[in-house]
Amino acid sequence: MTTQHKATLSFSDGTPSVEFPVYQGSVGPDVVDIRKLYGASGKFTFDPGFLSTASCESKITYIDGDKGELLYRGYPIEQLAVNCDYLETCYLLLNGDLPNIAQKKDFVRRVTIHTMVHEQMTRFFQGFRRDAHPMAVLVGCVGALSAFYHDSLDIQNPEHRFISAIRLVAKMPTLVAMAYKYSTGQPFMYPRNELSYSANFMRMMFGTPCEDYHPNEVLVRALDRILILHADHEQNASTSTVRLAGSSGANPFACIAAGIATLWGPAHGGANEACLEMLDDIQAQGGVARIGEFVAKVKDKNSSVKLMGFGHRVYKNYDPRAKLMRETCYEVLGELGLENDPSFALAMALEKIALEDDYFVQRKLYPNVDFYSGIVQKALGIPTSMFTCIFALARTVGWIAQWNEMISDPDQKIGRPRQLFTGATRRDVQAIGNR
Ligand code: ACO
Repeated sequence: MTTQHKATLSFSDGTPSVEFPVYQGSVGPDVVDIRKLYGASGKFTFDPGFLSTASCESKITYIDGDKGELLYRGYPIEQLAVNCDYLETCYLLLNGDLPNIAQKKDFVRRVTIHTMVHEQMTRFFQGFRRDAHPMAVLVGCVGALSAFYHDSLDIQNPEHRFISAIRLVAKMPTLVAMAYKYSTGQPFMYPRNELSYSANFMRMMFGTPCEDYHPNEVLVRALDRILILHADHEQNASTSTVRLAGSSGANPFACIAAGIATLWGPAHGGANEACLEMLDDIQAQGGVARIGEFVAKVKDKNSSVKLMGFGHRVYKNYDPRAKLMRETCYEVLGELGLENDPSFALAMALEKIALEDDYFVQRKLYPNVDFYSGIVQKALGIPTSMFTCIFALARTVGWIAQWNEMISDPDQKIGRPRQLFTGATRRDVQAIGNR
């Protein structure tokens, strides 16, 4: 952080003005360091949705929402998606740069030897109803990992943090596939370490002990791209949750479970599931012919209907991940001979109308990655209820990289927001008969 400028805050109530340093990052908006505001003025700032607040300093991911740019450690997502695989992206996020051949080989080996979960984990799954939402299962099972790795829970020890990061990246595909298998009543599939990360995951999802599964390369690459595109996204709700949970010293498995819980919401990771349900609903009501009616409902102030997969807190331009996912969508549908897939045709028609409609144009509402990722996942054979689990699998590396960055920061403090209190002031409890 460098500082060249200052900001002065003046008050109309007689409180003396306060001067703050203004820091420049390597790119992006400057920030005003208001940490001394309360001490100097007795006042807090008020920014409930973090609309103008940087919650931390970070070197991992940069988004320029106006340009529609996403960089992991400085590398554009478009270049990573085309030139790298998911495990190289994981290495990049965790270590700060892309691996060379030897580093990649070593990293892949380390991840690969940790793909199995403790056999006892199967009992946790059996505690859930078969119809439990897989995200509920995942929150529970990832949190439960805390109980298995007492050998590496000293968060002040960088080696312990590293081994936890590797374990989480390695075991998430196994746990996600187990959650799916449990929901279908099929036996769990053990990982096969000769397969790539994404091919192994697809085999654990779709293989059975009685019939071997040979992953299709185009589909494996599509899944790998989904993972790359979702690997990190700076300080979004789930990542901020992981950081906040971690700021108290909680172990990494507990923190990632908190992140998974946050991701579940339909305004965040649940959006691709919600988007596909929306497309299915429109389809059931008559498809493309009913789009006008649906868009009118979305624009009606009195209805709570939203165009799922559209809009983003940060992107006020086309989400770059959506462009890449759109390409992948064409590739996958072409490979599977599903070019005339009704969900895709409907999504295209909806996108066209929304991009031309004043309501969306004025509010800078563009498709986000979830608009297409649901369609791709559906084509891959992944059921809708699993979509957010796949997102959690991909995002685990981003969460753990951000968690590690926070713990390594010597200035790190427990996160403790303050509030504007508007409730009852002090009053006395009355005897129950007098209330
Ligand atoms: N459909 C219709 N109108 C919308 C949409 C939408 N998808 N998104 C925003 N708007 C409207 C709002 O109603 C508001 O209108 P107003 O100014 O007339 O009141 C205006 O656009 C600004 O929207 P906000 O809600 O203030 O934007 P915010 O940044 O808080 O919300 C969010 C962002 C939550 C993503 C929102 O756009 C949304 O709910 N989208 C649908 C869900 C979705 O796709 N989420 C995925 C996010 S990406 C991810 O997690 C990977």
